[in-house]
Order: sequence, then structure tokens, then C-alpha cells
Amino acid sequence: MKWKIETFVWAAAVVLTTALNAIADTRLAVKNLRCEYKSDPLGIDVRKPRLSWELTSTERGVLQTSYEIRVAASETELAKGKTLWESGKQSSDASNQVEYSGPAFESRKIYYWQVRVADNRGHLTGWSKAARWETGLLEPTDWKAKWITPNLPEDETKSNTAPLLRREFSINRKVERARLYATAMGLYEMSLNGKRVGEEYFTPGWTSYDFRYQYQTYDVTNDLKSGANCIGAILGDGWFRGRLAWDPKNNRNHYGKKLALLAQLVITFNDGSQQIVGSDQQWKSATGPLLLSDIYDGETYDARVEQASWNDAGFNDKDWQSVTILEAPKATLVAPAGPPVKAIEEIAPIKVLKTPAGNTVLDMGQNMVGWIRFRVTAPAGTTITLRHAEVLDKAGNFYTENLRAAKQTIQYTTKGQGIEIFQPHFTFQGFRYVAVSGWPGELHRQDFTGVVVHSAIPRTGSFETSNPLLNQLQDNIIWGQKGNFVDVPTDCPQRDERLGWTGDAQVFARTASFNHDTAAFYTKWLKDVALDQEADGAVPFVIPNVLSHKTRKGEAASAGWADVAVVVPWVVYQSFGDKRILEEQYASMKAWVEYMRRQADEKYIWSNGFSFGDWLAFATTRSDYPGATTDKDLIQTAYFARSTALLAKAAAVLGKKEEAAEYTSLEEKIKAAFQKEFVTPNGRLSSNTQTAYALALAFELLPEAQRALAAARLAEDVKKFGHLTTGFLGTPLLCQTLSDYGYLDVAYMLLNRTQYPSWLYPVTKGATSIWERWDGIKPDGGFQDPGMNSFNHYAYGAIGEWMYRVVAGIELDERHPGYKHILIQPQPGGGLTYAKASFDSMYGRVASDWKIANGKFTLTVEVPPNTTATVRLPKAKLEQTAEGQKAVAGRSDLLGARQAEDAVLVEVGSGTYVFETALSGTN
Ligand code: BGC
Repeated sequence: MKWKIETFVWAAAVVLTTALNAIADTRLAVKNLRCEYKSDPLGIDVRKPRLSWELTSTERGVLQTSYEIRVAASETELAKGKTLWESGKQSSDASNQVEYSGPAFESRKIYYWQVRVADNRGHLTGWSKAARWETGLLEPTDWKAKWITPNLPEDETKSNTAPLLRREFSINRKVERARLYATAMGLYEMSLNGKRVGEEYFTPGWTSYDFRYQYQTYDVTNDLKSGANCIGAILGDGWFRGRLAWDPKNNRNHYGKKLALLAQLVITFNDGSQQIVGSDQQWKSATGPLLLSDIYDGETYDARVEQASWNDAGFNDKDWQSVTILEAPKATLVAPAGPPVKAIEEIAPIKVLKTPAGNTVLDMGQNMVGWIRFRVTAPAGTTITLRHAEVLDKAGNFYTENLRAAKQTIQYTTKGQGIEIFQPHFTFQGFRYVAVSGWPGELHRQDFTGVVVHSAIPRTGSFETSNPLLNQLQDNIIWGQKGNFVDVPTDCPQRDERLGWTGDAQVFARTASFNHDTAAFYTKWLKDVALDQEADGAVPFVIPNVLSHKTRKGEAASAGWADVAVVVPWVVYQSFGDKRILEEQYASMKAWVEYMRRQADEKYIWSNGFSFGDWLAFATTRSDYPGATTDKDLIQTAYFARSTALLAKAAAVLGKKEEAAEYTSLEEKIKAAFQKEFVTPNGRLSSNTQTAYALALAFELLPEAQRALAAARLAEDVKKFGHLTTGFLGTPLLCQTLSDYGYLDVAYMLLNRTQYPSWLYPVTKGATSIWERWDGIKPDGGFQDPGMNSFNHYAYGAIGEWMYRVVAGIELDERHPGYKHILIQPQPGGGLTYAKASFDSMYGRVASDWKIANGKFTLTVEVPPNTTATVRLPKAKLEQTAEGQKAVAGRSDLLGARQAEDAVLVEVGSGTYVFETALSGTN
């Protein structure tokens, strides 16, 4: 009975609110409806998708008190309330990843959904605008098409001419809806009636092909015509069989020797009938103009051998070859969980240079990843060559040595029929400079466009301060992420590497998750981490594992690298409130910890096996300089403890009480062993290095009593050198550890330093991306060892998280993941007069913006609806702190304000607040 009254009240209130909304203000509304992190995804295969929405409100202190979701087969049915599933009114503040729990899905069906919510201010929204998701081919039997491979002669020792595939079909009824499902062994580009299908590149994407291929779903309803139609495909070697990794004996055909296509076009007509055109025996194949195509090396294209209209109906393909049907591979087909790779932005060259050596070079003004699109008019047979490089050398000449064996060269031969426009298909380049040769006549920069290509990860973060050098650093971090989020998180995008190095991903994940919404991207990649993990739990150095997947042994299990299996799921859970990632990765996380447990001796010290150590730590040849090498067993044992601690937390979140207790006790044992083995009673570590102290303090490996002593030693060490000495593993922890233990000034000194080694040194050298090494270009203008000198390596960009968390002060509350409760706690310093950052969380925008002027500290804070925040005003006195020019003390519209030792803490609900405090002491 009670339920009925409530429902009635709810319904009446909704009617009323809807009416009111229509007339006056919309004080509460929902927006940004997403399903599995995507808006209106096409072709998903998640059986219980999670739905998220944001609230918008004109009021402060808004929390959702209930929601109601409904799902129907069409918008009309939704409006009529003829539903497939209704959540019913749920008294809940959940607005992030609410699980669909209706009936099981059918393949290829569109589900429309909407939501309405109520808040604690007595407002109700009407039903939101409908959003949708569409299922893909959920069952293997849904695939009627067959894998086909072209019957063309090939030389498996090199890149072959990219095959073209085609088939005609005819349509004689009115099309209601058409979807194309496609995947390949290799890369594919599909076309319908001469037009490229979709806006995605490098499809089907790079997964661990031993286990799975992704297939894409395209809406091609408008690409069909009545009568004769043609479906076409070009295949490229890509990651499947192209050159990958550096071992000359094992750098091709990693997953197979034959390219293949699986494509299925499903046309639904107005009368409800259906036609399927799949890859089958009727397709024909031929070679085309793409003579060579390789991820590292670039492309060679001869427009003279194009076959005009080959992918249009009516083309004469009698000279084309047949295709062979392949047995379906054991690997499964899955819909992509992550975002597709797309051409995201375009940049114009800033100038054309003539180098001392006589090369004509375009300067893009930015180290970017993607390619050049150019337009040219020239007589037939003119060959234009574009070579790509990241830097010019000291003398101003084009420098390619650091690309190692990657050629990064585009060669285009014109057909000579007016304006020709070219951009590559199955390759990308990492570059700022482009050497152009063979250009007919004078070169105009308007004929060239830089196309920036990366995974379509939505940008979520911004960061700015009063120091322009720091702003450039932030910009470089962003570019480092864009260039290395090309379907998998790579180390670098230019030399003959471009692999999913786990250590780099591990250290950068938190920073990456401020700047962009990485949840779906990592969800996809972590699945491959688990699939490629070896039977004993060892995690390969690179994922997908092209280094040792054939034997499934070796090239695995380095501390700090393999820990990606534990750290990244935890980061995604914390940053996005994604509990499912912990469920899905739990077995993999646990297998890695158990691997370390077996490696460690009975004293819980892990000292055997291979380790990269604190990779690329500061090194010097000066004989009076103390060394900065951290013992590998210390690093290994520290990470053993760290991953065990995170696993225990994950177990607790998942309600696995016994395992949580088990791993907590294991962590205690490792810590005790660590202390016994590596720490003196006075808090000195056996490796007296910054990395050792940062690991021990950040991972809480020391007893309470020794922490202050150890932190003092860390600060001492930094001061003694005057700079950082850390490598890949120590660097991300250094400033955070210093500021956590009261050495904010030392942390700012490191951040602000402009000489080598430091984050800003490359900025002073004109860097537009993050370098692999602290001194990729040395102070004298010379280069570091070309064997390993990338100028686009995001790992050291991991300082970004400290800039958000401490300089701007946007911090999550571990107990309320996904920023459900936010900590805003800026720590001004370093001579900055202002800093501001924003982060678009799953609930909406979080922002912190402070400035120091006229003896006052002003902090503007934005807290999204359905969250709360604790704002910490540093060095403030309660009686001198105001919000909106009214004293905070005793205010009933704030959730509370109190004096903490040297700061004022204010609890707030959602809304925008402007706090002001008188400055006491120095900042
Ligand atoms: C990569 C790194 C990677 C490392 C392993 C390098 O070649 O570029 O970033 O983590 O190898 O230590």
C-alpha cells in the first residue's frame, strides 16, 4: 500500500514538475547519458551494460535521491511507456554506471532508454531525452559471412602490395536500416559504392590476436542505393603481419602470414525482410596502388596503377583473382570496449625551412602523431617523398637516427590528372618535421595538413598556472598522451618500437585519467593484459605481447612493469568509480601477486629474475658525484608490497573478506621483511637514493616512527644534488612524497627547475612533447644515444598527477571512488600567483581555481551535483575566511566549517563557491 501511495505521489509530482519545467526554469535536469562510457554506442556486446548520467542544477547542495530508468524498443514505445524493462523508482544516489538488469539482449537490436531523477531539494525531472545503444552480433552463429583471403602471389619476407577485395550485389526494395560488421587479420578499410565506410582508422584495432579480434559495426543505411551496389575492402599488414619489434629474425608475421577479411552487411528492408551480403567465395581480389604499407616504414603509393571505380558497381573485374575461404580462427570476435582511433584534429605547418644540408623541410610547430595529407598537381609519374623526423640537429639538419630502423617515409607517384590528394592508410608517423623531395615547383605550406590521429578519448582535464613554462609542460603531457594512445598505450610513436610497454602505462595511468576519459580505453587493453598473462601469472613486458607470445615464456615479469595488471584497474576504479573493472581483472591481479609470492624467498624478499629497475634514472660520469642507482631487490620487494596492498583493497571492495584479510597479512609480512632487509634503525635505506625513499614512503613500507626521518633524508638528498635523480619508477612518486611529508618547497623547487635534469629543461629546449630522457637534447645541443632517444614518451609526464592533485588540489577520496566525494586541497607555492584546473568527472565538472593577490588567497571551487566536497584552505584562520563575502563560520548553507591545525576545512555540497582568506605567513 505504502509503495502505491509513493508511486502515486511520484507520478503526480512528475506530472507537475514536467508542467512546471515546461513553463519556467529547469532547476534540475539530466544530461550526458552514456552507456558503457559512450554516447549512443553502436554494436556493443556487454550483456549488462552500465548506464550513467549527469545532473545539472541551478541550486547548491544537490544530491540525487532517486532515479528511474526505462528501456524500450523504439522512441515511440518509450514515450508510450511500452517498455522492455523498467528499473522502477529506486531510492538511490547512484547516477554513475547503473547496471541494466532487464531481459537478455537480442543481436542487432536498438534499445532506447531514458531516465528521470529526483533530488534532495524536492525537484523532479521529467523523462530525459532518449538515448540508445545497439547490440552487435552476440552469438558466433550470427556470423553468416566467411573469412576470405585473396589469392594473390606474395613474398612473406616483406610488405606486399595491399590487396583490394570487391563484390557486387543488388537491392530491389526500400532499405529501412543497414549495418556493416567487419574485421580482419591485418587492417581493413571498407567502402560502399566508392565511399569509405566510417571515420575509424587502424580497424579492427590491436588486441592480442591469439585470443581475440574486435569487429566494428557501421551504420551504412545511407550508403546503399537501389539496383546494383558494390562493397569493397583494402587490407593492410598492420600489427598482424607487418614489421613489429626489432629482432630481425622475428619481426614479421607475428600473428599469421595471410591477410583475411570477415565482413557482413545486414540490410533490413521496409517490409521487414532481410538480405545479408557477407564475405564469401563470390568476392574477387587484385593488387592495387598501395605498393608498400607498414606501421614503422610508411607507405609507397603509385596512383598510376589505381583502378578507377574498382569499388563501384559496374566495374569490370574479369581479370581479378578469386579468394579462398579460411577456416575460422580459434580466436573469438568481440565488439570494441574502447574508443576507436580517429583523425581528431588538424594542424597547419608553421613554416617551410631550407636546411644547411639542402633539404626542404616543413615545420609543423608541434611533435605530433598521425600523418600529412597533401595536395599536388604534377605530370604523371612524379614521385614525391615525405620523410618524417621529430627534431633537427644542432646545425639545423633533418635528424632521423633516433628512429632506428623505422623509415617513416611516404612515397607518392602521381597519375597526372589534375589535383591529387593523398593521405596514408595503414601507417602513422611521429614527427614535427617533414622533409619533402620531388615536389613539382615551389612548395606552399597550404598544400600540407598535419592530421592528428589517436584513440577518441574524450578530453576531461585542464590545468593552467601563472608560469608559462608549466603550461607548456602540461601541453606537452597532453600531446604525449595523444600520440601514445593509438589503440594501445604505447611507449613511443616513432621508432621501430611503438609497443604497449606496461611500465610506461603503469606510471602514467593516473595522469592520463585526469587529462582524458581513459576508462573504456584501459578496459579494452586490460583484457589483453589478462589474456597475454602467462600461466604462472607473469605479465609480459609489452601488451599485446609480440615479444614472446609464441612461446608464452620470457620477456615478462619485471617489477613496476608487470604491476600494471594491478595498478591500472585500481586507477580506473578510483578515477571513474568503475567496480566492474576490479571484478573483471581480479583473477589477473591476483595471479600477478601470487607470481611474486612464489618468486620471493621465505623471508618475503623478491630478489631473483629480471628487472628493469628504476629505468633511465639520472646517471653521471662525474667522479665526485654520488650514484643514484637503486638496488633492484629493493624495488622488486617494494612493488611486491604495493600490488599486494592494492589487491587486498580490491578484494575488500568486491566483498571477498577472506582474501582481503589474506593479502593484508601478506602485505604486513612483506613490509616487515622490507624493513628488516633495507632499512637501518635510523630510517636510512640501503639504497640511499631518492627513488628508494619515494617508494618506501609512498607505498607506506616504513613504520610510523621512521617516516619523518626517511622523508628528511629524501629532502636532504634532493637538496644535496639540487635536482631529481629518479628514473621511470621513482619520478612519479617524488613530488607527491615530498609534499605529503611537509617538503612542499622542495617539490616546487624540482618542478620549477629549468636546468637538466628536470621537467622544464626540455621545455627550455623548445620541446612540444615529453622526452624519453631527461637530456634527449643535451645542454650543448648534442643528442643522447640514438639507440634510445625518443622525443615523445609519456612516462616522465607522470608529474601531471601532482600538478592536478597538489598544485591545483583536485584529489579523490579513496573511500568514495569516482569523485563521489571530492577533496579540494590546493597547496600554493613555487612563486605561483594562480593555478587552476578542472576535471570532468563521471558526475560533471570539478574545478579548483586559486589566486593570490592583494594579501588575499581566493579559491573558486566547482563541485558537480550529486557529489560533496571537503575544501581545504591552506594557512587560513576560520575567523578570516569568507565564502561569497560572508564568513564561513556558522553558515547553515555550507555543510560545515572548522579550523584544522593550520588550515580551514569547509564541507560543501554541489555548486560554485568563492572562498577568500587573508594571507598569513608565506605561501
Ligand atoms: C621502451 C620503454 C620501456 C623500456 C623497458 C624501452 O625500449 O621505450 O619505454 O619501458 O624499453 O625498460
